Amino acid sequence: MIKDLWYKNAVVYCLSVGTYMDANADGIGDFQGLMRRLDYLHGLGITAIWLMPFQQSPGRDDGYDISDFYTVNPAFGSMGDFVEFTHGAKQRGIRVIIDLVVNHTSNEHPWFQEARRDPNSKYRDWYIWSRKRPPRANKGMVFPGVQKSTWTRDPVAKQWYFHRFYDFQPDLNTSHPAVQAEILKIMGFWIQLGVSGFRMDAVPFVISTKGADVKTPREQYDMLRDFREFLQWRVGDSIILAEANVLPRTDMQYFGDDGDRMHMMFNFQVNQNLFYALATADTRPLAKAMNKTEKRPASGQWGIFLRNHDELDLGRLTKKQRQQVFDAFGPNPEDQLYDRGIRRRLAPMLGGDRRRLELAYSLMFTLPGTPVLRYGDELGMGDDLSLKERTCCRTPMQWSTEPNGGFTKSDKPIVPVISDGPYGYEHINAAEQRRDSDSILNWTERIIRMRKEVPEVGWGEFEVLKTADPAVLAIRYDWRNNSVLFMHNFAEDPREVEFRTGVKGKTGERLVNLLTADHSRADENGKHRVCLEGYGYRWYRVGGLDYLLKRTDF
Ligand code: NOJ
Ligand code: CA
Repeated sequence: MIKDLWYKNAVVYCLSVGTYMDANADGIGDFQGLMRRLDYLHGLGITAIWLMPFQQSPGRDDGYDISDFYTVNPAFGSMGDFVEFTHGAKQRGIRVIIDLVVNHTSNEHPWFQEARRDPNSKYRDWYIWSRKRPPRANKGMVFPGVQKSTWTRDPVAKQWYFHRFYDFQPDLNTSHPAVQAEILKIMGFWIQLGVSGFRMDAVPFVISTKGADVKTPREQYDMLRDFREFLQWRVGDSIILAEANVLPRTDMQYFGDDGDRMHMMFNFQVNQNLFYALATADTRPLAKAMNKTEKRPASGQWGIFLRNHDELDLGRLTKKQRQQVFDAFGPNPEDQLYDRGIRRRLAPMLGGDRRRLELAYSLMFTLPGTPVLRYGDELGMGDDLSLKERTCCRTPMQWSTEPNGGFTKSDKPIVPVISDGPYGYEHINAAEQRRDSDSILNWTERIIRMRKEVPEVGWGEFEVLKTADPAVLAIRYDWRNNSVLFMHNFAEDPREVEFRTGVKGKTGERLVNLLTADHSRADENGKHRVCLEGYGYRWYRVGGLDYLLKRTDF
């Protein structure tokens, strides 16, 4: 196996330029501002940035409605600023991956404008039309409760067009060879400007058959191979991270049996069951989800996350499980969204409880895959439920106690900065947390530092160990003649568990704690007994700290 697949053992940080830092005081974050924060990110220890959409856009879905794929939205800066940014990141050893939003365009995109105006335009076929209102027009909405249908009549074209998402996001006809060629061109363009790959938006919809007469959409998986082939031919170490909330039985279709499709996928299955476990202290469904998603090509990788910029989608849990998560983390109607999720940020969901935050983060860093953390979560930032839909968890980064949290010198930030109350910038900000060695920011920095020295998580094989207590999850990873073992207690009260490491001989008898000085030795029967405090966690090396002397090269 190739040793230097960077994404197998990366720490990804996702941010949107518009809410990170505003250098020119117009209230909107920009690339110059982000550039000035690269040293902060470098210090935090992250190794890759996932940058959310920043291209020209009317901004009706936070940039996921693009009106020109080949420009930077002037509000964020110029193309020159963008290249300065990717260069600055590269100098610090930080990779940049960007959103690739090609399932649809904005309805203001010139392609759509021309398509609707002129039936003979070459762009007409780039979208999906129907003369009559299709019978399934009120099915398949991604944003139920907000989005009324998936087909809308366009008065100019005098036809109906298909939109999987909002009506201002007409779907591209992604089966059309010209559209596919354009998608490759878009990738080629940004790759040339210094990015290391893409977080591909809405992949199942991109590869789906679309049209008024399509009863059961079919996924055209070969398209994924074409994307990858093109990308890796242009720049060998660039990757695609797929947003595909699909069932475990189709995972391998996305990775490809030979690892010839997507490099990475977000593990939504583990994400939802993780929140179920956090809510109920029952880790069994989580262990099941981990085992079900274990299979992946050696070069493939899961993205492990807690919260992202969207709602916490619980649609894959059973009704009863979902209700339990709602009850624990988002009981009020205003906490919930689209009949399936919670729109809150992590810290308020966990009641700001430091023990639970550490537990959740420790899991994000030790579940099988590559951690993807959301900006502001390293501070325990909160949300603003007075903002609509998903905007509530997209408020500006809180840098200091300066006005507007140091995000902008303007008094009109693009989205209000959270102020007052326990999550206001007056309390939660990077500057104060830097001074406090016990802050969540410094904790995160230390845990990232340790995580980078535990490549077993990214590369190794794992096994969920038997502990006889469903509240305690124990995982062992093996890689290159080394093993690490992680334990997490999801219960509020202390739990004592007995277990075997599963590693034979003398090595398995010793567990060296990587975070504190409390180590464990097995009894004469080879069993370890560990007492975990409420919400406690342990990171162990199996055997001892001579592990690097024992590591094999393959
Ligand atoms: C998924 C993105 O994460 C979400 O924010 C967006 O609204 C939709 N795709 C449409 O692009
Ligand atoms: Ca600005």
